[in-house]
Amino acid sequence: MDPKQVPTVKLNNGVDIPIIGLGTWQSAPDGTLYKSVKLALDAGYRHFDCALIYENEEETGRAVNDAIKEGQVKREDLYLVSKVWLTYYTRERAQECVRKILAKFQTPYLDLALVHWPMSFKQVDDTLWPTGADGQIIEGNIDYIEAYKGLEDCVKAGLVKSIGISNFTRDQVQRLLDATSIVPVTNQVEAHPYLAQSKLKAYCEERGVTLTAYSPLGNPGSSCNDKPDKGQLLKDPVVLRLAEKYGKNAGQILLRFQTDRGLIVVPKSVNPDRIKSNIQIFDFKLTQDEIKELEGLDRKYRSNLFEQTQHLVNHPFDPKIDF
Ligand SMILES: NC(=O)c1ccc[n+]([C@@H]2O[C@H](COP(=O)([O-])OP(=O)(O)OC[C@H]3O[C@@H](n4cnc5c(N)ncnc54)[C@H](OP(=O)(O)O)[C@@H]3O)[C@@H](O)[C@H]2O)c1
Repeated sequence: MDPKQVPTVKLNNGVDIPIIGLGTWQSAPDGTLYKSVKLALDAGYRHFDCALIYENEEETGRAVNDAIKEGQVKREDLYLVSKVWLTYYTRERAQECVRKILAKFQTPYLDLALVHWPMSFKQVDDTLWPTGADGQIIEGNIDYIEAYKGLEDCVKAGLVKSIGISNFTRDQVQRLLDATSIVPVTNQVEAHPYLAQSKLKAYCEERGVTLTAYSPLGNPGSSCNDKPDKGQLLKDPVVLRLAEKYGKNAGQILLRFQTDRGLIVVPKSVNPDRIKSNIQIFDFKLTQDEIKELEGLDRKYRSNLFEQTQHLVNHPFDPKIDF
C-alpha cells in the first residue's frame, strides 16, 4: 500500500501521525523483528510503536536505518514512538531514558515519547524489574508528573517532537493537565470492542488528547494473558458477520473499527501476511450503526492487567473505577 494513502491524525501540536502503526511488543529481536519492520515499510507502515521495556529497539532502529540508507524512506517520513520505563521517573532520569532510547535506535530524535504507566518502580542499579525479597516489584514513589516534566524538557532539548501518556485514567489525565504545560498528544490504552473505552475517549478528546488503541486484536498470542476471553474477539459473531459483509478478515474489522472512531491503532505482527493485511483497511468503511454495535460488545475485558504491579500507587486498573 502506498504510505501516502494511509490516513493521518492531526495531533494537538499540529503534527500528523499515521493512523496505523506497527506494534513491537513481544517481537523477537533475533532477526524476526528486523524482517517484520522491513516488510512493514514495504507494506506502507511508517509509524512504529516501541518501548524501552520491549528490549528490542536496536533491531527496529537497525531496520529503519537500513531502509533510510537504501533510499526507501527518509527519517522525516517516519514516526517513531517509544515509552519511558517506570524505573526512570525522576525529571532527570526521564531525559536519561530518552537519550538511552535514541542511542538504541541510532536516531537523533523521537517523534513521540510516552510516560509508559502512571506507577513508578524504584531505581535499583540498571534493573528494569526491581524486585524485593518477597518477590514483589519495589515501589518508586515518584509522581508521574515528574516523568512527564522530564519529557517536556526533552521537547525543549529537541530530543522528541511530541509527548504523551499511556494507561492513564480520566482522573490521572486531568491531574496531569492541571500540573504541566504541554498537553499530551495521546493517551495510549488498551482498546477493542470488548473494552471500547468510550468514556475515556470522549474525556480525552474534549481536552485535545487523542486515544491510541493498543492490543486492538485483544492480543490473542500473549503469554501474559490467560483470561477466558483471550482470542475470542477474532471469533466474535458480530465481527465475523461484518468481515463477511465487507470481504475482509476479522483483524481488519477490528482495526477499521478503531480508525473509523478516530483512534490511532498499533497492531503487532511478525507474520508477513498479517503485517500486510492489517494495513489493508482503507478501502471500506463501517457505518455508524456498525460502530455502535461493536462498541456495544464492551465487557470490560483487559488482556493486559499488569497484575504484578497491582499493589503500586496509581495502578490504573482498579475494578472499582469506572473508566
Ligand atoms: N502502552 C502499553 O502499555 C502497551 C501495552 C500493550 C501493547 N502495547 C503496544 O500495542 C501493540 C499491539 O498490542 P499487542 O501486541 O498487545 O496485541 P495485538 O496487536 O492486539 O495482538 C498481537 C497478536 O495478534 C496476532 N495477530 C496480529 N495480526 C493478526 C490478525 N490479523 N489476525 C489474527 N492474529 C493476529 C499476533 O501474532 P503474529 O505476530 O504471529 O501475527 C500477536 O500474537 C504492542 O505490540 C505494543 O506496541 C502497548
